[in-house]
Amino acid sequence: MEETVGRGLEDVVVAESDICFIDGHEGRLLYRGYNVDDLAREATYEEVAYLLWHGHLPKSAELKAFTEAIGKEAFLPPDVLAFLAGVPAGATPMEVLRTAVSMLSLSDPTSEHVGDQTDRTKALRLLAKTPSIVAAFDRLRNHQKPVMPRPDFGLAKNFLYMLHGEPPVDEDAHILDVCLILHADHEFNASTFAARVTAGTLSDMYSAITSAIGTLKGPLHGGANEQVMRMLLEIGAEDKVESWIKDALANKKKISGFGHRVYRTEDPRARHLRAFSEEIGTRRGDLKYFRMTQKVEQTVFAEKGIYLNVDLYSGSVYYQMGIAIDLFTPIFAIARTAGWTTHVMEQLAHNRLIRPRAQYVGPERELWVPIEKR
Ligand code: ACO
Repeated sequence: MEETVGRGLEDVVVAESDICFIDGHEGRLLYRGYNVDDLAREATYEEVAYLLWHGHLPKSAELKAFTEAIGKEAFLPPDVLAFLAGVPAGATPMEVLRTAVSMLSLSDPTSEHVGDQTDRTKALRLLAKTPSIVAAFDRLRNHQKPVMPRPDFGLAKNFLYMLHGEPPVDEDAHILDVCLILHADHEFNASTFAARVTAGTLSDMYSAITSAIGTLKGPLHGGANEQVMRMLLEIGAEDKVESWIKDALANKKKISGFGHRVYRTEDPRARHLRAFSEEIGTRRGDLKYFRMTQKVEQTVFAEKGIYLNVDLYSGSVYYQMGIAIDLFTPIFAIARTAGWTTHVMEQLAHNRLIRPRAQYVGPERELWVPIEKR
């Protein structure tokens, strides 16, 4: 056996895939060959989900039918609603989402079918219902009734509507839609890999997405966007940013929203989010969080030469939309459901069990000691 250890599987290529391409040196991201900048400018999230699943852009009638199908699937089964209503106080939205997504298999009679056309139906079900789960849970924990989805709204607009109980302004709906596009897929990131490992055992789609959500939750991955906002609130003011960051770095702390395993330059998604953070701040007449984030970006780069990642500006974008901080990572999960489900289907189409090896470094000749002599 080859005896080199790639810590954290850095730069290890584990499969061929035609879904997503990252050029970490040039800062380029493609979904199915389309530049994410073009998709962010031109597409809707539904269009991107269709592109990921089918491998080509939809024609207008296909997109209309697809968007309507998602809208019709946004309703939650009674067992999931009952679960959301009975969640113990203090539960975090990511653990609730992870559990509720797992529960969705209970109301799907095809839940155990694997690798057939029902995977597409399950993917659509998951894509449509995750926003409803997150919004309904947030309403219920705030002692408000869940808002029924509006099948005539797109997914992003519907999510904000179900969350706040009134239709969002068009600008916010558009910004969230683009945020979902920017987070829709990212090659073999940790949560996608977790989904593929689960799918590779021929377990079902719901199990794979549950694995992915549990993996996304960590602060080194999707949880970083929440940490960024908590950091901004702790710092409190723009003129305190520099000393706070220098102090944190001197204490060997990692600053959330910076660094990446693949990018060696600016994350191409960050440019869009930076512009959105400024746009929302300008619209609301308060650029405090945009300016603070900019100062954090400048200080970390000046001190360490480390580039920002997707999570740095998404924090202040969602916060300024009036979204609770602990919903930021669930929003990431909503977006990434398009990518996760695509990867599960690709894995199943060319499946081989994913089972790497460890380089054993433990003892080999220990002698058995009876329990009374230990
Ligand atoms: N703040 C300060 N220093 C950092 C940061 C950071 N955010 N990121 C990397 N570094 C430094 C490390 O301390 C290390 O320095 P050293 O060689 O002097 O010890 C060097 O850069 C390399 O860092 P690693 O942690 O080895 O890089 P790795 O590829 O393993 O980790 C990761 C990538 C986890 C994203 C890391 O950069 C990090 O912890 N960032 C903060 C959390 C974050 O924002 N996560 C979101 C990532 S994007 C996403 O998942 C959506």
